[in-house]
Amino acid sequence: MPPSSAFPWNPSSWRAFPSVQQPEWPDEAELEAVEKTLAEWPPLVFAGETRDLTTRLAEVADGKAFLLQAGDCAESFRDVSANSIREKLRVILQMAVVLTYSAGVPVVKVGRIAGQFAKPRSSATEMIDGVELPSFRGHIVNDDAFNELARIPDPQRLLGAYHQSAATLNLLRAFTKGGFADLSRVHSWNRDFVASSPTGQRYDEMALGIDRALQFMKACGVSTESNPDLHTVDLYTSHEALLLGYEEALTRVDSLSGEWYDCSAHMLWIGERTRQRDYAHVEFLRGVRNPVGVKLGPSATADDVVGLCDALNPDRLPGKLTLISRMGKHKIHSCLPPLLRAVRDAGHPVVWACDPMHGNTFTAPTGQKTRHFDDILAEIAGFFAAHADAGTWPGGVHVELTGDNVTECLGGGDEILDSHLAQRYESVCDPRLNSSQSLDLAFRTAELLRSGNSSWFN
Ligand code: TRP
Ligand code: PEP
Ligand code: MN
Repeated sequence: MPPSSAFPWNPSSWRAFPSVQQPEWPDEAELEAVEKTLAEWPPLVFAGETRDLTTRLAEVADGKAFLLQAGDCAESFRDVSANSIREKLRVILQMAVVLTYSAGVPVVKVGRIAGQFAKPRSSATEMIDGVELPSFRGHIVNDDAFNELARIPDPQRLLGAYHQSAATLNLLRAFTKGGFADLSRVHSWNRDFVASSPTGQRYDEMALGIDRALQFMKACGVSTESNPDLHTVDLYTSHEALLLGYEEALTRVDSLSGEWYDCSAHMLWIGERTRQRDYAHVEFLRGVRNPVGVKLGPSATADDVVGLCDALNPDRLPGKLTLISRMGKHKIHSCLPPLLRAVRDAGHPVVWACDPMHGNTFTAPTGQKTRHFDDILAEIAGFFAAHADAGTWPGGVHVELTGDNVTECLGGGDEILDSHLAQRYESVCDPRLNSSQSLDLAFRTAELLRSGNSSWFN
């Protein structure tokens, strides 16, 4: 019998619990040395920021704001350029402004960024042309190249992930606070390759409306530069807390409150494959004060979910817990409603978010893993419908995207076809929406939200 979560928590108490999806490190002593180094390095985020995010998420739980959580499936060690970070931020800001403007609710922006490196895998090995090798587990663990050496887990990669997260976060802070996110720039975020598409034009029209409003405000004496609310955004960071040794090393006591915070990101989530009760991931995340997410696939029962709420948020703090359903466009209709009812009836104040990506993945005839834009939208529509029925607030969406013009997901305004997938398929893991598909999704989501249920906006 493993100890149960009734035992006292500390940052390493998870070590006494069974855990799944952990790499087989060839040299445990080297891993320990790396973790010790990390534990001496500065935190990446600060407790005060993390508390602010909890407050913002409490507004989402209360039906007063909407959560946009978006970014890479897996960040890559080969892709750390200022360009790619800026492009991801740009598309997140575009989506956020569309949602804010069209749905008329505040949008809490959380990136899958600056730390989203570790990947759980459905199979421990991968077979290509009769050759079997350990699976790629994200650049924080091994390399995606298909050869034996590349796939050996290397603890030094934890340090690489820390540095890349720090550099990414540094640039994000500069962009979000230094003028790039100023609302008067809303026009300039539209990219050339999107601007000519129907979605791009729709965006331009909206931007024109915002520009006019801002000109009016300026004439009245309020300029964007002099008003931090209009000049800057708060972009919070998040990733799947998969490598618990890494998370433990960055977990620190906040000197103000005396509470433990995992300072690797503002928000951490538990994946669909690691959400077992009385296992290590739930044990670790029940003790930190960060907002925590849990992915819920079709096998999640009402008892599982209420049990997770009790374990992860026993004090029922609003904003602490986000439940992220990822059922697939068909199963959402039967699988989500019982969970909504159970959590509602148990009185747990959660944020409900919809990950419309991970239940809709399939392999195209050409061999690439892909997702269809229409399926993604259909799951979001099913998510809204289930909430309308249950009288609960569909708090947000959780999507995988990139700011680049990739061809990884099918459909959307530019109608990506099977035959286009090979043109620009760059993801090191799952297929991501490109920037015009992302923008399109934001408009459609805002429409669904507005037309959903009048009680949502009372
Ligand atoms: N700060 C506000 C917010 O985050 C308004 C804002 C400024 C904004 N720049 C933005 C909103 C860019 C969306 C995108 O909501
Ligand atoms: C992910 O978010 O990339 C992921 C692996 O999701 P899930 O745990 O829901 O499968
Ligand atoms: Mn993914």
